[in-house]
Amino acid sequence: MSKLDYQGSRQILMRRPPTEVQEARLAPFRDAGYELLGRGGHRAVFQADDPGWVFKVALSSRGQTANELESIRSLRYGKGSLIPFADCHLSTTLGTEVLMMEWVKPYNIMDPPCRLGELPEWVQWVDFVQVGWTNEGELVAYDFEKLAEEAGYPS
Ligand SMILES: Nc1ncnc2c1ncn2[C@@H]1O[C@H](COP(=O)(O)OP(=O)(O)OP(=O)(O)O)[C@@H](O)[C@H]1O
Ligand SMILES: [Mg+2]
Repeated sequence: MSKLDYQGSRQILMRRPPTEVQEARLAPFRDAGYELLGRGGHRAVFQADDPGWVFKVALSSRGQTANELESIRSLRYGKGSLIPFADCHLSTTLGTEVLMMEWVKPYNIMDPPCRLGELPEWVQWVDFVQVGWTNEGELVAYDFEKLAEEAGYPS
């Protein structure tokens, strides 16, 4: 399977409806009027009150670990190392610990005219090329719990 097919099939997989357990976790945020922007295997992502920010709600213990790890990596490396990481930090929304992250426009392989080969080389270290553009037009990683091991970032 090519990287392109791989990312495409993954995007289809992510359209699976949430399970009952996941739905219960999301309900308070929906009820409070937060807009769900996306959902991965382990986290749901809502638009924060400030339009420049989103927040990630863990849907599993792995999602919780991802939130913690990303906050550490962002704090430690910011945008100044091989991989520029989206700004983020742990915070509390509706009494739940969440990861606040700057809003990005995710790169989507289906969006012409941007092709994988036109992106900088560092994107290959980011799991499934989960990168996007900030409001300032910088390309950053937005899902960076899992990086290619050879990238050398300690976890
Ligand atoms: N900073 C952001 N700004 C805007 N949308 C975002 C941001 N971060 C994530 N999203 C959207 O939310 C979706 C899910 O987020 P994310 O990939 O972080 O969840 P995940 O559960 O860690 O995913 P995975 O299944 O890859 O482990 C993304 O595919 C993207 O569409
Ligand atoms: Mg993801």
